[in-house]
Amino acid sequence: MMTFKMASYTLAFLFGGILATQYQPGLEYADIITNEPSAENPENLAPAMDSVEMVGKKLFLNKCASCHNRNMEDALTGPALSGVEARWSEYPKEDLYRFVRNSQKMIAEGHPQALEIWEVYKPTIMNNFNLTDKEIDAILTFVEYQSNR
Ligand code: HEC
Repeated sequence: MMTFKMASYTLAFLFGGILATQYQPGLEYADIITNEPSAENPENLAPAMDSVEMVGKKLFLNKCASCHNRNMEDALTGPALSGVEARWSEYPKEDLYRFVRNSQKMIAEGHPQALEIWEVYKPTIMNNFNLTDKEIDAILTFVEYQSNR
């Protein structure tokens, strides 16, 4: 009886710990989109953003914005992401997905586009992200949307 209880507490504690370390506090939407209705500007129109872009925005703010400037135009710890699909357009889309999932692997393999950006930013290493193609597409859609504002 006691052992079962203790085991479940231990499990709960472990999972809680894992969740706590994975959790990155989300930035507020208002941080990035200035024409959203807010307490100060209630008459602002909601941005014409479809749900793919909203998903991409959420992912970008939670996972990428700490290193990639949210204005998409200026470098930060990492390069500005505006125009990134064009820079990678000589290669299959899969390569860009793979870079987001594990950039160091592609750099080690000597992928020319990965090496080009690494030459500029090394030794700064990008995190690996366990994201699906669809999630990365959503982020890229948001990057595009944000670049053209
Ligand atoms: C810890 C900082 C950091 C985070 C977080 C980060 N990146 Fe990066 N990113 C970099 C750096 C630095 C580079 C340049 C290459 C290098 O040094 O590895 C880069 C390069 C890239 C490139 C290649 C750009 C180009 O012009 O070829 C893409 C695409 C990219 N990141 C996407 C993302 C996405 C999407 C996310 C969020 C899911 C993300 N990054 C999160 C630091 C980061």
